Amino acid sequence: MTDRQKLRIGLFGYGVVGQGLHDVLNSSCGFKADIVRICVKDPSKKRRIPMEHFTFNKYDILDDESVNLIVELINDPVAAYEIVTEAMKRGKNVVSANKTMIASHFRELVELQEKYNVSFLYEASAGASIPIIRNLEEYYDNELLHSLRGILNGSTNYILTKMHNGNIPFQQALSEAIELGFAESDPTLDIDGWDAKYKLCIITGHAYGLFLDPDEVFHYGIRNISRFDIRYAKEKGLKIKLVPFVGKTDDNTITSFVLPRFISPEKYLYNVDNEYNGVITEAAFADKQFFCGKGAGGHATGSAVLSDISANSYGYRYEYKKFRQGIVTDYTRDYKIEIYLRYKNDADRELFKFAEISEQFTSKTWNYVIGVVNLRNLYELREQLPSMDVFIINTGRRDLNNVDPPLAGRAATEGFI
Ligand code: HSE
Repeated sequence: MTDRQKLRIGLFGYGVVGQGLHDVLNSSCGFKADIVRICVKDPSKKRRIPMEHFTFNKYDILDDESVNLIVELINDPVAAYEIVTEAMKRGKNVVSANKTMIASHFRELVELQEKYNVSFLYEASAGASIPIIRNLEEYYDNELLHSLRGILNGSTNYILTKMHNGNIPFQQALSEAIELGFAESDPTLDIDGWDAKYKLCIITGHAYGLFLDPDEVFHYGIRNISRFDIRYAKEKGLKIKLVPFVGKTDDNTITSFVLPRFISPEKYLYNVDNEYNGVITEAAFADKQFFCGKGAGGHATGSAVLSDISANSYGYRYEYKKFRQGIVTDYTRDYKIEIYLRYKNDADRELFKFAEISEQFTSKTWNYVIGVVNLRNLYELREQLPSMDVFIINTGRRDLNNVDPPLAGRAATEGFI
């Protein structure tokens, strides 16, 4: 076994996750790491520990040679990028939970680790307490992974749960998610699906070895959900969840997107409620697996940060095995999806270029249509969608794209989740 390195931590950020980590570290038996200094932005903010622990100058930590691990838990992705890259250039190992920053600079951050021979761990950045990245790295390195989908945003899952179970209005449920510390400091990242997309891009790097530019991936959130959509789902015995998806379309190609999705009661994700996240993998040999755990909140996220800190003390590094295998080389948006579209104007509906229509309804107050669209077309509409009076839900129908079943594994044809 590798000798454990004594860790002297420089912590950046003391918000929900920073304080959560502090609690988790203080209560963890058997693992001791010193937090040497904590760097925060706002000198006027009241803190729950004495001010002598804090600094407002990042170089007090970055230039301290006794600090051998930087833990970055701030909100601002630009400042986080500067801290993380400066730390790596000084030969310091880094743990981060900043999904926006990691997804936006993924390939460069992977290269910097190699160049400066440092470790960069970020389990908390996707699925918070669920150890999905390490599982993909260690457990799925030789698997033919057909697809991965799930719930990766705790705030939207909390909002959708409250709207479904208690008929609580969207704005009230969002305020609760903010109050409980689940939402981003800019909650549009949650409700418009950005946060889920960044997490999906990070997971894709480990699941398939492609470091996607997040701008290439279609995402659509829950901002425009209405009581009609909830009513429709409830009448059919379904729930609506925000479900990111990444999957193979052939041996070397993947597709991915973030869309709300109908979930029926026999599916794993149906009972993943409130701030919980759930991830389902479908693979040729392991078949389907389901991971579930708290996806937001200080202690849940702090637990994943602690696990990275501990792994760091043993010298653990991600090896990016799928990237090095280089099997998946292409990305496509040419992919059929069956959607429910709630709309007001026929002109809006026309923009979606429906190919097959299986159900439609019109009334004085609302209309909907269920049919097949191409992801390419949704992507073309991406900028106008948030301001249109429509709402889109993936129905989850599975048999639209002729994905090769022997490659895809049995699960692909059985309609799990
Ligand atoms: N705002 C995020 C969420 C926090 O709601 O999932 C955890 O990444």
